[in-house]
Amino acid sequence: MLVSAKEMLNKAKAGKYAVGQFNINNLEWTKAILLTAQELNSPVILGVSEGAGKYMCGYKTVVGMVNGMIEELGITVPVALHLDHGSYEGAKKCIEAGFSSVMFDGSHYPIEENVAKTKELVETCNKLGLSLEAEVGAIGGEEDGVIGGGEVADPKECKMIADLGVTMLAAGIGNIHGKYPENWAGLSFDTLADISALTGDMPLVLHGGTGIPADMIKKAISLGVSKINVNTECQLSFAAATRKYVEEGKDLQGKGFDPRKLLAPGFEAIKETVKEKMELFGSIGKA
Ligand code: 13P
Repeated sequence: MLVSAKEMLNKAKAGKYAVGQFNINNLEWTKAILLTAQELNSPVILGVSEGAGKYMCGYKTVVGMVNGMIEELGITVPVALHLDHGSYEGAKKCIEAGFSSVMFDGSHYPIEENVAKTKELVETCNKLGLSLEAEVGAIGGEEDGVIGGGEVADPKECKMIADLGVTMLAAGIGNIHGKYPENWAGLSFDTLADISALTGDMPLVLHGGTGIPADMIKKAISLGVSKINVNTECQLSFAAATRKYVEEGKDLQGKGFDPRKLLAPGFEAIKETVKEKMELFGSIGKA
């Protein structure tokens, strides 16, 4: 059964580790992440962007697939199914479809509008026992065609949104989606410390987990980050493993063209990436 992300993130915040959000794109992705979480006894959050939701034939299809897999694979660790960077309308659709957690990304609205919309969704999610992630200050990089510039959030605005009663808060601290540029300035730990001081027990979310050096991840966790989002890194490891299989000509040997064989190395590569991240985030054995 899907669970809200509230309990797992409050436990992570108190225990000074982070739960990974891994974005899903299809059946192989979902199965790889769920099996790894179960093997390592780790809580996990499956992230679905609006684009990925569309690709997978809509939120209801995603809910059906994930619920079916949890049952058929005997997954007993806590799993939250979470809308990643949702619009206001997208959040409502996911709530209706049976997601256990949603992100409303109102960071591009003026703060007053972000507050008003977030507030309304807090009420809805509270009534239904779902977790809600809000965002302050756009996170840089490209996601679903939107490009930001590694922005840094205003800690006072973070407090305003945190006080509305959201479950977890994403705040830009110089993080970027996708690969980091050579000249990246790194995470702004001063900003993170200020946000943490003002928001107290609120679990903070670090987006753009791909390519952030391990020491920065650890420091971010020590300063209150309890959820870390990873997407691109699984895509890169899936693509590299699939490329190797084809370049070695394995799809031309025997029944190597069978999709179950063709996609197997990529599936294993995702499992390995998820394992590495769970080790780094400290969530192993915390289910
Ligand atoms: P990356 O693709 O950089 O890992 O970011 C993922 C993310 O933050 C999803 O919201």
